[in-house]
Order: sequence, then C-alpha cells, then structure tokens
Amino acid sequence: MKARHPKPRTGGTYLLARHLPRWGHPHYGHGVSLVERASRSGVIWSGTTTASVRPSPYVAHHALLSIARSHDPLLQLPAEDLLLTWLDTLSQWGYHSVSTSALAPIAATALHDIGFSTAQDLVLLEHHHRDTDNFIGVLPSLRGRWPGSRFPSQPVITEILHLDCAAFGNERQMDLITLREALCATEQSRVFVSYVDKLLVGFVIVGVSDTHGFIQRLAVDPNCRNSGVGTRLVQTALAWIQAKDCVSTVVNTEASNVVALHVYENFGFAPMNYRLAVLEKNLLP
Ligand SMILES: CC(C)(COP(=O)(O)OP(=O)(O)OC[C@H]1O[C@@H](n2cnc3c(N)ncnc32)[C@H](O)[C@@H]1OP(=O)(O)O)[C@@H](O)C(=O)NCCC(=O)NCCS
Repeated sequence: MKARHPKPRTGGTYLLARHLPRWGHPHYGHGVSLVERASRSGVIWSGTTTASVRPSPYVAHHALLSIARSHDPLLQLPAEDLLLTWLDTLSQWGYHSVSTSALAPIAATALHDIGFSTAQDLVLLEHHHRDTDNFIGVLPSLRGRWPGSRFPSQPVITEILHLDCAAFGNERQMDLITLREALCATEQSRVFVSYVDKLLVGFVIVGVSDTHGFIQRLAVDPNCRNSGVGTRLVQTALAWIQAKDCVSTVVNTEASNVVALHVYENFGFAPMNYRLAVLEKNLLP
C-alpha cells in the first residue's frame, strides 16, 4: 500500500466546513454544532469531524449520514456522548433510521459501539500502475453540458440514473445528489459510456486527485452482462487514469460481489489491508 492516499472529497462538506460560522446551538451543548440547511437536512460537526445529513430519496424517514473523510483509515470520530447527540438530532428531525457513508475501520468501530450494525462490507482494491501498463481507452467520454463542465446534459443524466437503478436496485441506486458528489469528489472526473443501438448499456465514473485514480461507480445493464461491457469500461477508466500519470487506482466493491471482484482482479487489482463498511441503525425507541 502507498504511504499516502489522498481521499476523494465528500461533495460539499469541505466547503461548508470551511465557510460556515462555527456557532453552537444551545440545545446541542458544548462540542456539537449544527446548521439546518433545508428541512431535515444539514451539517453537523464536532471538533474536526463534519457530517452532512439528508433524507433518503427512496426510503421513508431514513437519514443518509455522510461523514467527511470517512474512507480515511486514521479518521477518529468524536467521543460517544457527542455521537449520541448526533443521533438525538436525527431523531428530533423525524428520522426512524440512518445509514452512513462507507467508513474505515476505526470510525466504524466507534459507531458499532453505539449500536450501529454493518449493512455493507466493502472490499477496497488497489491497482498499482507500472510503466509497463498499456491500457487503451476504447469507449467514449461523455461531453460536459458546457465546456469544462463535469455534468452531462439532463437527458443523459436521466439515462445514467435509470441504468444505475436497474444495476444496483431501488435502495442502492444513485440519486442526482450522489451522482453530483461522485463527479465532484476528485480534482478531475469523467464519465465513460457504452451504447448499443443508441441505448446506454453501461457507464463508469472515474476520478483523479493528485496522483491517485478512483473508480467511483461502475454499472452495466442487467440484460447486457457477461459480454465484456464492464471490462471495456474498466479498461477505458484505467487508460484515462494512466494518462494522468497516476501511481495507483482504488475502487471499492461489496465483498459478496463476485462478478465485480473478478473483473477488477482481471486487471491486477488486489485487496488493500483494510475494508470499508456502510453502517445503519434503527433510531426508534
Ligand atoms: C460488475 C459488472 C459491472 C460487470 O459487468 P459485465 O459487463 O457483466 O462484465 P464483463 O462481461 O466484462 O465480465 C464479467 C466477468 O465476470 C465473470 N463472471 C460472471 N459470472 C460470474 C460469477 N458468478 N462468478 C465469478 N465470475 C463471474 C465472467 O466470466 C467475466 O469474466 P471473464 O472476462 O474473465 O470471462 C455488472 O455485473 C454490474 O453492473 N453489476 C451491478 C453493479 C455493480 O456491482 N457494479 C460494480 C460495483 S463497484
């Protein structure tokens, strides 16, 4: 493993952490600050830890808690009493349950200690780029809506979200906010696509920060699997990352996802020495 992995930024939270005043709310007491930006959505921070909360677009009364730098294996969450105050806030906002962004082990342990359980066990895989790598991009990159823009046009975004739902299912599909976060999480990003008869059958979202590449999302239409589409998408992603002189590419996938693991292993990806976990908790008494 490389000594340093600049982690992709979690969309929005860095900016908010830097620009919002650090006022305390009397109700939340010392150590927890809160800004409610919209109904049941906002930013909570304690010390150096920042988390954003928003309602799940697909599960009623379910909160999505996205913790900044949550992939960082050194990330320490605040003390238990502060974390319990976070949960109190979610209950007061009317949520019945919560799930987190993917967390590295130290942070996950802190939440397990206050009753969270593991919803997804994610393997982190890394490919070390070598001078001998010779990936050739075979699929087109999506053009931005305007020059320099990361965001495809609305009809293409609709196609991507539709395909993502077919590939990942109702509860794990991306919504527009997650797509935006994936595109903005790194210094540069691209979406590569595969079309058959003008129909989108696969896409990959790929990003680069510093000298590290990240495969953020990969999906192939269930009706078009096992015909090499996923492989061509990963190959194109690696070619783009390689052209940016990256030293490594990291991706995560569920430990049970044997097909994705097989595709990545075919390209020489190997498991890193820690995993990530998405955690969840029921908030009802
Ligand atoms: C993972 C995914 C992108 C693969 O796409 P795909 O187009 O089917 O991939 P390919 O056809 O290029 O390759 C599939 C490989 O898996 C192998 N495979 C198929 N079923 C398998 C199984 N049950 N166990 C192990 N390997 C399997 C195929 O033989 C092929 O390997 P090969 O090239 O060595 O023969 C697709 O299954 C998908 O969208 N899944 C849901 C979303 C997802 O899991 N995304 C990845 C998360 S990071």
